Amino acid sequence: MTSRMIYIVDFGSQTAHLIGRRIRDLGIEHIVTKPSEIMSAIQKQKPAGIIFSGGPSSVYEKNAPTIDKKIFQLNIPILGICYGWQLTAHLLDGKVVQGSREYGPTKVTIDKHNPLFKGIATKDIAVWMSHGDEVVMLPTGFDYHAFTPQVKAAGVADIERNIFGLQFHPEVEHTQEGRVILKNFVEKVCGLKTAPRSISVDQITNEIREQVEQYDNKSVAIAAVSGGVDSTVASALVAKALGKRFIPIFCNNGLMRYGTDKEVRMIFQDILGVKPMIVNCKKDFLRALKDVADPEKKRIIIGKKYIDTFVKAAEHIPHAKFLVQGTIYSDVIESKGSEHAHKIKSHHNVGGLPKNLTFTLIEPLRSCYKDEVRMIGRRLGLPEWVTQKQPFPGPGYAIRIIGKVTEQRLLKEIQADQIVCDVLKKHGMYDKVFQSFAIMTGALSTAVKGDGRIYGEVVAIRVYDSSDVMTAGWSHLPYDIMQELSTRIVNEVEGVSRVVYDITTKPPATMEWE
Ligand code: XMP
Repeated sequence: MTSRMIYIVDFGSQTAHLIGRRIRDLGIEHIVTKPSEIMSAIQKQKPAGIIFSGGPSSVYEKNAPTIDKKIFQLNIPILGICYGWQLTAHLLDGKVVQGSREYGPTKVTIDKHNPLFKGIATKDIAVWMSHGDEVVMLPTGFDYHAFTPQVKAAGVADIERNIFGLQFHPEVEHTQEGRVILKNFVEKVCGLKTAPRSISVDQITNEIREQVEQYDNKSVAIAAVSGGVDSTVASALVAKALGKRFIPIFCNNGLMRYGTDKEVRMIFQDILGVKPMIVNCKKDFLRALKDVADPEKKRIIIGKKYIDTFVKAAEHIPHAKFLVQGTIYSDVIESKGSEHAHKIKSHHNVGGLPKNLTFTLIEPLRSCYKDEVRMIGRRLGLPEWVTQKQPFPGPGYAIRIIGKVTEQRLLKEIQADQIVCDVLKKHGMYDKVFQSFAIMTGALSTAVKGDGRIYGEVVAIRVYDSSDVMTAGWSHLPYDIMQELSTRIVNEVEGVSRVVYDITTKPPATMEWE
């Protein structure tokens, strides 16, 4: 019997789980499977539809992930996205070649009726692309329904067999009408009724209580808090669930924004009524990072130090058994990825955990995206200055100082970053952008300050808009704000010779430079 389920075949796309999120948002269940396991999954339970994700491979490469061709004969609606579409074309005797590369925003023109595009009022839609290959010959039965200036087969379909292909990514935020397209697939092609999903704070806190209480009645949870939205919201959930059996620990390693220790006291002591334990360990972290320039090594070192610090702090807390982490969905995806994904970065809060960890993890936000985390925070009564805080990476300034982290460069980074924060707040821009920060680039350039020539470091500023973390566009800040940023940084931060503005979208560039 056909289920109400959508199966997603993950070919290693960074955004495969985002497809899942969009499906979940429609109140429809989904599972993400490996290409090698989809046929057995179908045998167990026939889904209402299947979505093939994108992926980093080329179909004509040796060992490129593939799928059993019989899948196209099962009478199940299929939507292939990017690599998923190219593979569909390849397996059904179309032709895929290395084509014009497109990364980032482009315009798609819809020129034929297609159920996926139903209800879209405009002919041209802004979409997000990330591909180097393209389909140049359609398989029999397929027709062209949408194109870009570069790609003829941007939207295609074999309407009779219910097989659809999109060269662009409907799942990412930056694709206009992407949600409509996926909803149309689920409703109009797969025939499922959708309803918005809701998140229940009570359900999450009940689950935390059950997880802890089934162990015994005196064990305590400790939390790795950073003052950021994720760890604060995760901790607030655990505080609600466990009350006094919860102790947040702030590892004051000097790599966090200036004043974070004060904020942590304010959030936990004053707002949540839980006294945090503050561990001062800046010297220890800087010693461990001495002479380390490789970003991955920095992340691993910091991740390990974090855990060591917690283990030591926990020795002073009787019955500490559980470790709360503010890991969210995008951390998990970007760090671990799937079978065929390229590893992008090891996020410290996932990658650094030792195998013999004696704590049991509580990760109440593991399946949530950033906007959902903020929403849960608001429902828990946390103030806006907490829930709307910009994300800050776990390894902190260490990954915004390109190359070696010295006390001197750290001080400059903190000053430059504080200026970015102040200026954006002053102009009411801080809350409007997704993230904004300074980077010590490690590049040197000449400047004349006063009457003296200096050969000092170049600071880059990165400010961008995003809501799903997977894609981002650089913020078009007004020129006078850019001018103020540049003037203040070169004037106020010693040894800085130049300020540049990063105008790269994600993809291809990640948000952080390291
Ligand atoms: P990227 O640079 O991967 O960043 O596009 C996506 C989001 O993740 C944050 N980020 C990190 N967060 N540990 C973290 O907890 C990390 O190692 C890390 N690296 C990047 C980044 O600030 C952005 O919000």
